[in-house]
Amino acid sequence: MNIQWYPGHMTKAKRAMKEDIKLIDLIIELVDARVPLSSRNPDIDDLGAGKARLILLNKSDLADERCNLKWAAYFQDKGYFVVKVNSKSGAGLKAINGVVQEACKEKIERDRRRGILNRPVRAMVVGIPNVGKSTFINSFAGKACAKTGNKPGVTKGNQWIRLNKSLELLDTPGILWPKFEDQVVGIRLALIGSINDEILNKDELALELIRFLQKQYPNVLEDKYQTDASDAVGLLKQIAKARACLSKGGELDLAKASRLLIDDFRSGKLGKITLELPSENTKAE
Ligand code: G4P
Repeated sequence: MNIQWYPGHMTKAKRAMKEDIKLIDLIIELVDARVPLSSRNPDIDDLGAGKARLILLNKSDLADERCNLKWAAYFQDKGYFVVKVNSKSGAGLKAINGVVQEACKEKIERDRRRGILNRPVRAMVVGIPNVGKSTFINSFAGKACAKTGNKPGVTKGNQWIRLNKSLELLDTPGILWPKFEDQVVGIRLALIGSINDEILNKDELALELIRFLQKQYPNVLEDKYQTDASDAVGLLKQIAKARACLSKGGELDLAKASRLLIDDFRSGKLGKITLELPSENTKAE
């Protein structure tokens, strides 16, 4: 694929994040529970070397619960602390405080040995665009204090949000850039809406989704759109019929059907669907 990710921006963003990471004890990394590996930028492991690490499986409400459990175990196995959350509803957020204390045990202990008592853990939220960073900060802090914006890197003039006596959060999230070496990861990121759909046209993206669903969630399309075709194009045509996607001349509008299908997937109307499993290892770690 021939995609440019603003290399200038990236270098600047990386430098800014390096500076911010110096200020903190803990990195709270959000990933999308539907694509936990594809929605990570592994550069954060180098950037965050030596820091306590917490991964939030965000949007877990949209993902397959069995897969959520597998992913939590996968990351825990690699030494990360993990909490499954839905930042939109607030589900799972309560568990975070306890896990943060656990993740930062060494730092708290070190402070105590030095006679420093009650110094709050300082944390920063990071993740690729659209993964839910602002939503998380707003819900977690309980007020509308996170700024939005999709430019990589952390802006100047950071402020600390005091969440309680033992935890402070940098108000601006670190925006990591999506990273993908292969087309499969690109398609997954496009499906969840984290990179521009233009990398593929929406028809192609919809066909990819249909092929995936046929294999992994075979009843979903039949239940939702009453389809029975066996090939992806045939299924897309039936979806177009079911959703009354017709052009002015009365022909099936497959482009519209593709958009509707992808929107239905993104908003959870197709059910709880996870696009990748730990065992696949489609992406270099
Ligand atoms: P970002 O800062 O990382 O770029 O992401 P942001 O918080 O802006 O969230 C991106 C979208 O994801 C928002 O939807 C937000 O509501 C949604 N979102 C965040 N966390 C969750 C979650 O845990 N579950 C679900 N289902 N959705 C989540 P949007 O369509 O852009 O806005 P809105 O229509 O929800 O207002």
